[in-house]
Amino acid sequence: MSNILFPLSEEHEMIRQTARDFAQEKIVPIAAEFDESGEFPHETIKKMGEMGFMGIEVPEEYGGAGMDTLSYVLALEEICKADAAHGVVMSVNNSLYAYGFLHFGTEEQKQKYLRPVASGKAIGAYSLTEPMSGSDAGTMRSRAVRDEDFYILNGRKSWVTSGPVATYIVVFMMTEPEKKHKGITAFIVDAKNTPGFSCGKKEPKLGIRASATSELLFENARIPAENRLGAEGEGFKIAMTVLDAGRIGIASQALGIAEAAYEASIAYAREREAFGQKIGEFQGISFKLADMKTRIEASRLLIYNAALAKERAKKTGERFSLEAAMAKLFASETAMFVTHAAVQIHGSMGYSKELPVERYFRDAKITEIYEGTSEIQRLVISRMELGLR
Ligand code: CAA
Repeated sequence: MSNILFPLSEEHEMIRQTARDFAQEKIVPIAAEFDESGEFPHETIKKMGEMGFMGIEVPEEYGGAGMDTLSYVLALEEICKADAAHGVVMSVNNSLYAYGFLHFGTEEQKQKYLRPVASGKAIGAYSLTEPMSGSDAGTMRSRAVRDEDFYILNGRKSWVTSGPVATYIVVFMMTEPEKKHKGITAFIVDAKNTPGFSCGKKEPKLGIRASATSELLFENARIPAENRLGAEGEGFKIAMTVLDAGRIGIASQALGIAEAAYEASIAYAREREAFGQKIGEFQGISFKLADMKTRIEASRLLIYNAALAKERAKKTGERFSLEAAMAKLFASETAMFVTHAAVQIHGSMGYSKELPVERYFRDAKITEIYEGTSEIQRLVISRMELGLR
């Protein structure tokens, strides 16, 4: 579809095509198998790293591809169209992990912890959520206490994307609980070399099953003070800033899932016959397709708009929370709407494991939940519009 508001440059078309070719050739054929087994697709994730997909916006001096936000969302959409589980690993590396280092990391931290992840040699993770602290992120219970040149970390984190496979994890903990959100600090944990740190139970999931998600356990885990990201008490701000970037990624993931479900539905409606005609000729089906397409294109515009707002922020420092929240809210609800309709259009074949449509439906749901539920996006949008924050 030609896009009048956002005509793409040759460079943007190229990254999209490269991601599309890779995703369709290498990921589509294995997606169902890894979804079924719940195994982590190490090989394809490694290949994505080699292709520069794990640090698209990270400058080349820190191991990244040095491209812009629009390039990132275009590539991510293509990966997620093939498989949303591969997509979330890419999204967390690029946004929740890398963006924090770019904005709050020291030169040494960027070289040591950003470079290997942005260049795809290691996987990064971000850990905010706890069993009793999800949407209300400021109420975490995990504690970090300073001990001379170290911090001692204790607590239990949950729902950490890439937790079991990450080499480095940015973890948020309370350093001064009486200060509430202003008492939260961010730390870089070397997952392979920190005694007292371990991965807890693997989270059993409805969708994005090939991505690895787990609890993290800290039992007097000792980390050097130089592994603090940002200042003491700056953790909540870091967590929120990084989530703004992450939400654009999840919106792109939702768009990719929705597009895959829509394209499958169009093909099926053109082919499948009932009552002597193609089912696409029934208004009950064609009007569904019209609504699916319209919401997909509206999501795309909100996502590209958020990508441009984030690009502007690189020069002006302005927040893009509103644009990111609107993109994530609309695109994730679109993914749910579109995949729900896609299952219905396919009838019992939509419910069958023989086609990927049921996987799109299961994968879509998480986009309304992680990196801020739809309710939290509505809170962010309305607070900003009302001037309450
Ligand atoms: N950027 C920078 N600063 C921000 C900010 C942003 N986007 N949002 C808030 N802040 C700052 C505020 O300015 C305020 O600063 P001051 O104290 O200096 O004034 C401070 O943070 C507190 O802000 P609020 O009073 O708005 O905080 P709140 O407690 O009301 O919470 C919230 C706001 C939007 C509800 C927030 O808690 C939130 O986003 N919750 C959802 C958390 C979430 O998305 N979790 C997902 C975890 S990641 C994940 O899903 C797993 C994975 O691996 C993919």
